[in-house]
Amino acid sequence: MSTALITGASAGIGASYARRLAARGYDLVLVARSTDKLETLAGDLRSSFSVEVEVLTADLTDPAQLGAVADRLRSGAAIDLLINNAGDSLPGTFATAKPDGLQWLIQLNVTAPTLLASAAVAGMIERGNGGIVNIGSVVGLVPEYFNGIYSATKSYILTFSQGLAAEVGPKGIYVQAVLPAATRTAIWDRSGVDVATLQNVMEVDDLVDAALVGFDRREGVTIPPLADAALWNAFEAARHALPASFANAVPAERYRINV
Ligand SMILES: NC(=O)c1ccc[n+]([C@@H]2O[C@H](COP(=O)([O-])OP(=O)(O)OC[C@H]3O[C@@H](n4cnc5c(N)ncnc54)[C@H](OP(=O)(O)O)[C@@H]3O)[C@@H](O)[C@H]2O)c1
Repeated sequence: MSTALITGASAGIGASYARRLAARGYDLVLVARSTDKLETLAGDLRSSFSVEVEVLTADLTDPAQLGAVADRLRSGAAIDLLINNAGDSLPGTFATAKPDGLQWLIQLNVTAPTLLASAAVAGMIERGNGGIVNIGSVVGLVPEYFNGIYSATKSYILTFSQGLAAEVGPKGIYVQAVLPAATRTAIWDRSGVDVATLQNVMEVDDLVDAALVGFDRREGVTIPPLADAALWNAFEAARHALPASFANAVPAERYRINV
């Protein structure tokens, strides 16, 4: 038996992961702020799939409550799979954002998944296996398409996942970054963007089913809406070609000052 801890499991993508993983026989630890929604989902999953489901209410922007989730990852029944899914965006632009709002978003989208992965990884290394799935976004690749720092937090999720995979992959731990594009969830109600004005919005179960296909194939990065995989492969090939050119003790010719 395997146990998965899912953050942001009360709604949207996280709730869909909970249903799909329960159907695969995973026991679950469901984390979010809305206890009622988590309890209702837990009851449904227990009766439909005969799995064990714990509910852990936590506001991941509160350091003490985040610490309690990290403690659960370190102790109790071993967690084999961490789904770092909870996240949000801020309405408005960077220029109009308040410092408290920026700090809140970084805490939720960056600090929380980082510290939860940190709490999970030690036990996984000891056991020689485990998985960490981090939910990023395609706007992490194209930050010009979304206002404010949301895209930057999602770029972090991508590079964090890639760096972590390089470090812990050889120790038997699988790390996947999932990059959704627009997906029909309540996040849009809070973002200031009317989802009805968007085209090509993916349904949440389709997104999660596709992400799980990438999971089963052990992809490092899964971009469910990307039809032409060659585009991503070319992007990665270009990125991997860069380091050879970074090995230079002197500035590149174009940066030399002519005296
Ligand atoms: N939907 C999209 O178009 C889209 C596209 C790209 C990436 N994503 C990413 O997908 C992930 C899931 O979002 P979603 O679209 O499924 O949105 P959603 O339906 O609004 O769900 C967000 C989940 O995160 C939880 N959450 C929010 N703030 C929290 C906090 N402070 N502490 C603990 N849990 C918190 C919410 O639960 P409570 O309110 O109960 O706490 C909820 O379960 C996010 O990381 C988002 O950035 C979404």
